[in-house]
Amino acid sequence: MKRIALLTSGGDAPGMNAVIRSVVRKGIYHGFSVFGVERGYEGVLHGEFIPLALNSVAGIIQHGGTMLRTARCEDFKTELGFKMAVKQLKDRQIDNLVVIGGDGSMAGAAKLGEAGINTVVIPGTIDNDMPGTEYTIGFDTALNTVLDAVNKIRDTAASHERVAVVEVMGRSAGHIALLAGIATGAEFILLPEQPVDMDAVCQGLMQTFSRGKLYSIIMVAEGAGKGHEVAGEIAKRTSFNPGVTVLGYIQRGGSPSAYDNIMGSRMGAMAVDSLLKGEKNFLVSYQQGQIVAVPYADAFKQKHGIDLSLHELAGILAM
Ligand code: ADP
Ligand code: F6P
Repeated sequence: MKRIALLTSGGDAPGMNAVIRSVVRKGIYHGFSVFGVERGYEGVLHGEFIPLALNSVAGIIQHGGTMLRTARCEDFKTELGFKMAVKQLKDRQIDNLVVIGGDGSMAGAAKLGEAGINTVVIPGTIDNDMPGTEYTIGFDTALNTVLDAVNKIRDTAASHERVAVVEVMGRSAGHIALLAGIATGAEFILLPEQPVDMDAVCQGLMQTFSRGKLYSIIMVAEGAGKGHEVAGEIAKRTSFNPGVTVLGYIQRGGSPSAYDNIMGSRMGAMAVDSLLKGEKNFLVSYQQGQIVAVPYADAFKQKHGIDLSLHELAGILAM
């Protein structure tokens, strides 16, 4: 009987449990033996494999996080650690390894593919910044978490007629800041992909204030700057004294949205179907409304950058 091992790696994301549940139950349905690996590549190195049955994934779909737990594993990047990981997998006759994670995890999976371990990556990160796919599991839930938080912040900013700076996650990509900025009607959105012009931001704040907009929301991706520093720059240039909220890790948790659970279930099932067809070493990708298998080499070439026209639109709509 063919074997599948399954792990979650890198930053966790809401919806990962829906993927785990789908791979386990679809895999068993088609006759695979399915094993979970605890704590990502760290668990592979140390042989932390656990057999999974249908009831192993009962009652998890509604929870954020990952039942297998996750880790960032620097040892896996070393030659010795990598060789240990390959040996652990081969000693257990693991034919296929399904990795749920971001672009770093995909880099690791691609290397295992080159070493003869067939791997499949399902995109899971709240950042939505993975090459080769238009969507990563967890992004929609994170957006809704930010929306809920900023709506609360907007209430108090309006009551006190105060500027609010909100820092969101996205170390190197501004997808969360941009889409959450549009969803919340933020007046300004600062992105890592664009140079930050604080003079222009402050000029805009003063112009809108003089037009009667007595409070504003400034959405800052952490890769563009620190919320407290942005507030300090505004206080230096204007009479405003912005309040600062760093949303941090609440963006990584919470009960997954319907969209993430549906997408996670579909991507997990597609991974198993592709394995049944003998496909090897690919990313399960969402492109133009379809879930497709993309070989890693092609995926890494397809950067998923932000749509700057949306940034322009956000500015127009927030005037
Ligand atoms: P994400 O998958 O969310 O991008 P990381 O970038 O932290 O998260 O990667 C998660 C793990 O994947 C790392 O801790 C490491 O074990 C493995 N990894 C990342 N990049 C590589 C690489 N270039 N080669 C091998 N393994 C890697
Ligand atoms: O990759 C997802 C992410 O949440 C980023 O948005 C954030 O910058 C990073 O992980 C935080 O990493 P850690 O969990 O190691 O602090």
